[in-house]
Amino acid sequence: MADHDYKRRQFLQYAAFGTIAAALPGFVLAEGGQINSAPSAAFKPDVEMEITARIAEVPIMPGAHTSVFKYYGKLLKGPKTALKPMPGYLGPILNLAQGQKVRIFFYNQLPEPSVMHWHGMHVPQKMDGHPMYAIQRGERYVYEFEVKNPAGTNWYHSHTHEMTATQVYRGLAGLITITDEQEQKLGLPSGEYDIPITIQDRRFTAGNQLLYIHGMRERMLGFLGDTILVNGQANSAIPVKTRAYRLRVLNGSNSRIYKLGWEDGTPLIAIGTDGGLLEKPETYPYIMLAPAERVELWVDFSGRKLGTDLVLRSLEHHGTMPHMGGGMRRGRGGMRRGMGGMDMMTGGLPQGEAFPIVKFHIAKKVGDSPKLPETLVRMRSLTEQDVSNPDQPVPIAISMQHMAPQLNGRSFEMNEVMDSERIPVNTVQKIRISNDHGAMGGGMGGMRGGGMGGMGMMMSMAHPIHLHGQQFKILSRTMKDQDSGDGYAIVKDGFIGSGWKDTVLVMPGEEVEIIKPFEDYTGLFLYHCHNLEHEDMGMMRNFYVG
Ligand code: C2O
Ligand code: CU
Ligand code: CU
Repeated sequence: MADHDYKRRQFLQYAAFGTIAAALPGFVLAEGGQINSAPSAAFKPDVEMEITARIAEVPIMPGAHTSVFKYYGKLLKGPKTALKPMPGYLGPILNLAQGQKVRIFFYNQLPEPSVMHWHGMHVPQKMDGHPMYAIQRGERYVYEFEVKNPAGTNWYHSHTHEMTATQVYRGLAGLITITDEQEQKLGLPSGEYDIPITIQDRRFTAGNQLLYIHGMRERMLGFLGDTILVNGQANSAIPVKTRAYRLRVLNGSNSRIYKLGWEDGTPLIAIGTDGGLLEKPETYPYIMLAPAERVELWVDFSGRKLGTDLVLRSLEHHGTMPHMGGGMRRGRGGMRRGMGGMDMMTGGLPQGEAFPIVKFHIAKKVGDSPKLPETLVRMRSLTEQDVSNPDQPVPIAISMQHMAPQLNGRSFEMNEVMDSERIPVNTVQKIRISNDHGAMGGGMGGMRGGGMGGMGMMMSMAHPIHLHGQQFKILSRTMKDQDSGDGYAIVKDGFIGSGWKDTVLVMPGEEVEIIKPFEDYTGLFLYHCHNLEHEDMGMMRNFYVG
């Protein structure tokens, strides 16, 4: 019954968009929009589970419980370790292995539509959580996919049309770990020595309820909370032993960008990025982590004194926030103060402010520790030689004109693609992402003299650009703005350029070229800003792979 209604509803929805029939092949029209509510008999799952999204009251802060949206999991088939429940609002950790066939029955028991997306995973269109597949309360969606990704850390979250920010904020997110044979041979810290660190910022009312502010400032810049949660808990302190650990760090925040650093200046050792392990460990003074990005850290507490703490912090930075182009640039210092003032007006923790994230407490001495491997995994090599469009990169041009964050001058349409968004399947494409505030000059003109005050400058800020489907490699990062100031200088050494990525932070005035395979699956795949307020405002588009 639900099925039939859905087809009809979806069809009407499609019919309403006059351009679609012309724009897309019949495939999308005929099959694309159907809700997948029944399991396929041909699909033989190795892991099968139910995930139900519902309202829950959970302990987060001392005192009253907090009303949240939470994913609850129930394992139906597969290894017991495949599902690990988490405290607070976070969904269970899904521990998967490359090659596994996974079936997930998603039940929506929320009072609003919802859909699940497996961020970072290479899955078919119908399994990818496109907002066109949102289901209503009481309905079910069946996800079936094979785990193609290599070992690493991905995550899942809601991707509901214009509701992603609020639904993720209220709790609809969880971690996914993937293991494979290459990784297992490395003997990396595992079990209790493999720790998830999901970082999110929230605001709470005096009664411990989640507060989401959606004023002009939050709409344009993104929501910032004043309370940092790690794994859904405030004031996180993790007891550790004097040995090495693997930390899987996810920035699950709506818009906050972290500049990760150890409090005592110890360099960070990265062993993995969004798409999996690196070829070899890399050392960084600090690491930038924008919304949706992951980094896997190796940290060795050997030799640390019992009873001491090592704090992972976010360090001061400022270049990610609005910054004026052209003749207005001279006033930049003043603008920074201006932005700070706006934050103070709303009583928040400004973007770029320094604060502690999580404290590791050296609680126990142990005799030995695994050693950091010199090399990690062999990656598929992908170079400029492999791309089919070396001279005509696919553009992703960021703009924030007229108070609307857009990509390639367009806002999101459920199933619309432009010519530049059509990608031949089984090709590797060069993509050029530009955050060029120079081009904004004209658009800004009208605002300069306007009464918007501080809002007029919000033409250029850093955007974490995420592409669905396969992971990409970064080819180059170029600062096009000769006068970018020290805002770029104090973040640029924290970008990891070597690993597989699905999200890249593009700074104001920066151009980032990437190469990305579009293999195996045809259909609509999203690309968008992972500042969730921007995404919901339409800073999202489709690629049609076919
Ligand atoms: Cu994590 Cu399309 O998103
Ligand atoms: Cu995604
Ligand atoms: Cu953005």
